[in-house]
Amino acid sequence: MVLLGILLKSLFPVVLFYSFLSFWVPDGAGSKNNDTKKTNFIVILADDIGWGDLGANQPHLESHTPNLDAFAADGVRFVDFHSAASTCSPSRASLLTGRLGIRNGVTHNFAVESLGGLPLNETTLAEVLKESGYATGLIGKWHLGHHGEYHPNARGFDYYYGIPYSNDMGCTDAPGYNIPPCQPCPLCHNAPQSARGECYTKLALPLMENQVIVEQPVDLSRLPEKYALKAKGFIKEARSRGQPYFLYVALAHMHVPLTTHSEVPSRQPYADSLREMDDLIGQIKASAYGAVGQDTLLWFTGDNGPWAEKCDFAGSVGPFVGAWQIVQGGSSAKKTTWEGGHRVPTLAYWPGKIQGNRTSLALLSTLDIFPTLVSLANTSLPANRRFDGIDISGILFGHLQEGHKILYHPNSGAAGTFGNLEAVRLGQYKAFYTTGGALDCNGSIGPAQHHDPPLVFNLNRDIQEGSPLDTESQEYHTLLLHLKQAMGDIQADISMDNVSSADYLQDVSAVLCCNREHVACRCTEL
Ligand SMILES: *[C@@H]1O[C@H](CO)[C@@H](O)[C@H](O)[C@H]1NC(C)=O
Ligand SMILES: *[C@@H]1O[C@H](CO)[C@@H](O)[C@H](O)[C@H]1NC(C)=O
Ligand SMILES: *[C@@H]1O[C@H](CO)[C@@H](O)[C@H](O)[C@H]1NC(C)=O
Ligand SMILES: *[C@@H]1O[C@H](CO)[C@@H](O)[C@H](O)[C@H]1NC(C)=O
Ligand SMILES: *[C@@H]1O[C@H](CO)[C@@H](O)[C@H](O)[C@H]1NC(C)=O
Ligand SMILES: *[C@@H]1O[C@H](CO)[C@@H](O)[C@H](O)[C@H]1NC(C)=O
Repeated sequence: MVLLGILLKSLFPVVLFYSFLSFWVPDGAGSKNNDTKKTNFIVILADDIGWGDLGANQPHLESHTPNLDAFAADGVRFVDFHSAASTCSPSRASLLTGRLGIRNGVTHNFAVESLGGLPLNETTLAEVLKESGYATGLIGKWHLGHHGEYHPNARGFDYYYGIPYSNDMGCTDAPGYNIPPCQPCPLCHNAPQSARGECYTKLALPLMENQVIVEQPVDLSRLPEKYALKAKGFIKEARSRGQPYFLYVALAHMHVPLTTHSEVPSRQPYADSLREMDDLIGQIKASAYGAVGQDTLLWFTGDNGPWAEKCDFAGSVGPFVGAWQIVQGGSSAKKTTWEGGHRVPTLAYWPGKIQGNRTSLALLSTLDIFPTLVSLANTSLPANRRFDGIDISGILFGHLQEGHKILYHPNSGAAGTFGNLEAVRLGQYKAFYTTGGALDCNGSIGPAQHHDPPLVFNLNRDIQEGSPLDTESQEYHTLLLHLKQAMGDIQADISMDNVSSADYLQDVSAVLCCNREHVACRCTEL
C-alpha cells in the first residue's frame, strides 16, 4: 500500500484518481463508509494533577499551561468535574468502563506483580469504539493489569506504547524529582536497604510497544518526545486509512518522579514539569489538528488530585483545601474524598462543534466520558450492566446545563473500605459518612472517622469544606431525607447489577522482565 502510494505520487494525473478512489472505494463497499464520517476522539489523562495547576483555572496566578489555556479559550472548561476515584487504577478503570469500582471490581491499585487486572467481562470504551470501526490507541500509563490477557492489546487497544503502571513503580537510571529520592537501577544490587529509597525495587521500569519491552529501564526524561512521536504516527496512520480513531493518552506527568526537559537542576521542578506536559499536549494538538477539516474532539482531564505527601513535587488543589480535614490532620488531596482528591482540571475542545470560551458549572465525572463518546460515535452501550456515567453531549454543545444531580465518591485509601461509597454530592451539598486524610508533607495522617448523622458542607458558600452544616438546621433536615434516599437508591441499584470482581493476587511470574538473567531485568547492561 505504501509502495503503491509512492508510485502513484510520482504520477500527478493518477494522484487525483487515487484520491478519488480512496474516498469512494469504502463507500462503494458499503461497510466502513460510515466510519469516515465519524468524529475522532483524543482523551488526555494527566496523572496526579491538581485543579489549581491549570492556568485557566487560576487566572490570578502565573500560568505554566499555555497550550491548555488555549484549549480553554477555544473550548469549554469544566470547573466541577470529578475523577471517579481518588487513586490511579480505580479512576482509570472507571474512565474506561463508565462504572464505579464497586461495579467493575477495581477498587484499589494493581501492583508490579499483579496477576489480574480490570475484570475480563468488563467492556472497555476502546472495545466498543473498535467494534464500531475505530482505530484504537493507548499511549502512556495503563495500570489495569499487564499480565497475559489483561494487557491493553487484549482490552480493545490496537496499539499500545507506554509504561504499564506508575512511573515510580520501578527503578530507572535518571530517576527525576521525588521524595524520598529514588535510587538509580545500577545501585540496586549493592546499595544497603536503607539507602534505596521508597521506590527501590530490583525491577527496572519497562517501556512497552504492544507486547514487546522496548526499554528497561525506561529513560523517563525522553518519554515526552517519544509519546509525541508515537501519537503523531498513530494519528497519521489512522488518517491514511481513512479510519476514525480513538487515542487515549495517559501521561506520566504530573506523577513523581518529575522530569523537566532540562539537564540542569530545576529551581521549580513542579512548574517546569507542568510546562513539559503542556508542551507535549501542544505537540499532540499539532498532530491532530494540523490538517484542515479534521473532525476531532479532544478531552483533557486528570485521574485524581495532587499527591500531597510529595510536598513541593505535588500540584495545587486551588481553593479546594478541605479545611475541615486539615484541622484534624492529614492531607485532603489524592486518596481522599475531599474536593482536592477528585476535582480535576478538565477541558473539551472540538473546533466547529463546541463553542469556545465557555465555562461549565455542571457536576460531571470522568465516568461520563464513556457514555458520551459512545453516543457521539453513534453506537450503543454494552448490554447487561448499569452505568454510573451519563451522556453529556448536550452539555458539550451548550444545549444543556445540568449534569449529575447525585455523584458518589468512593473511598480510595485514606478512609474506610476501598471502593465503598461513603461520600456523595447532592447538588451543591457534599456529605461524608466517613472522612479521613492521606499522608501529608509533614508525615501526618488524619485517621478515618465515621459520621452518623453525616457531615455536610454547602459548597456554594464553603468550597473549602471548612464548616459543616448545623445538624439542627432546617437546611440539614431537608437534605438528610434526600441523602437517605440517594444512599438507599445506589445500594439497591448495585444489588441488582452485574458486579465484577478483580483478581488482586500477586506472583513473581507476572513481572515484566526484558532479561531474566539480570537482577533488575535490564535489557542490556550499561
Ligand atoms: C455502516 O452502516 C450500516 C448501516 O447504515 C451498518 O449496517 C454497518 O454495520 C455500518 N458499518 C460500520 C463498520 O459501522
Ligand atoms: C471570554 O469570555 C469572557 C467572559 O465570559 C470575556 O470577558 C472574554 O473577553 C472572552 N474572551 C474571548 C477571547 O472571547
Ligand atoms: C446513527 O445511526 C443511526 C442508525 O444506525 C442512523 O440512522 C443515523 O443516521 C446515524 N447518525 C449519524 C450522525 O451517523
Ligand atoms: C446481568 O446479566 C444477565 C445476563 O448474563 C442479564 O440477563 C441481566 O439483565 C443483567 N443485569 C443487568 C442489571 O443488566
Ligand atoms: C507542615 O509543615 C510546614 C512547614 O514545616 C508548615 O508550614 C505547615 O503548616 C505544616 N502543615 C501541617 C498540616 O501541619
Ligand atoms: C462478570 O463475571 C462475574 C462472574 O461470573 C459476574 O458475577 C459478573 O456479573 C460479570 N460482570 C458483568 C458486567 O457481566
